[in-house]
Amino acid sequence: MSAHAAPKKRITLGDLAAKKAAGEPIVMVTAYDYPGAQIVDAAGVDVVLVGDSAAMTVLGYDSTVPVTVDEMIMLTAAVRRGLQAPLLIADLPFGSYEASDAIAVATAQRFVKETGCDLVKIERGGTSVDRARAIVAAGIPVVGHVGLTPQTATSLGGYRAQGRTAEEALRLRDSAVALQEAGCSAIVLEAIPSDVTAAIMPLMEIPVIGIGAGTATDGQVLVFHDLLGIYDGGAARFVKRYADLRTAAIAGVEQYTAEVRERVYPAPEHGYGMPAAEAERMQELLAGR
Ligand code: KIV
Repeated sequence: MSAHAAPKKRITLGDLAAKKAAGEPIVMVTAYDYPGAQIVDAAGVDVVLVGDSAAMTVLGYDSTVPVTVDEMIMLTAAVRRGLQAPLLIADLPFGSYEASDAIAVATAQRFVKETGCDLVKIERGGTSVDRARAIVAAGIPVVGHVGLTPQTATSLGGYRAQGRTAEEALRLRDSAVALQEAGCSAIVLEAIPSDVTAAIMPLMEIPVIGIGAGTATDGQVLVFHDLLGIYDGGAARFVKRYADLRTAAIAGVEQYTAEVRERVYPAPEHGYGMPAAEAERMQELLAGR
């Protein structure tokens, strides 16, 4: 009998469409490395996003803007190695797709070739609708992202909810519909009033994943480090903490520190022995006998 479990069935875009049709919530979470990917896979999520939130959560930048294509590719490839079942989406970082369709397609192709991701995600409506259309035409599925789009947070007035006036709400609706018409396979709505989400949902035939967008979406996404209480930065209003791993991790490392300083660790059981005869021979050799 093999010691290895049978490989899990990989989730497809068709599975997400079936979940939407059946009214079954789609669960998406971010991951940024191999152990994180193994954890979210074992937990049974449907979709994993290597978000450019990695810039802040794992690389220590103060926004998502500085993260590079090479950094995102390294993280996404590590996540790919740790995943079996979930669908894998990679964020194209700021500055890697906006300037032209050709640049967007080349970046998306690099991600698919070098990481094995299933889809790429880009932010905003406007010119991103054209970029989405071009990437889809090149055979790569795309996820759109509207509402609070952190890559352009400065021009949105900072990290704040979007669509809080009727005109802004209609602009968000138009962007979501345009991204769908451009061929996006799914869309993320971030930090928008629940009423705006409810107005957009009847127009969306593709799965809609929300983060701070209320309950009407087809699924939810949270940042791994936020939901597990790992990230030290301030959490947005929509974050629910399901664990406090940072506190547990500090306590563990503090105990290790104390035990090394007190010579409690390592204990005899953490060391390696050698046959008594070899130990005796070694002493003889050391003594030059
Ligand atoms: O970068 C990210 O983690 C994201 C999610 C918050 C949707 O885009």
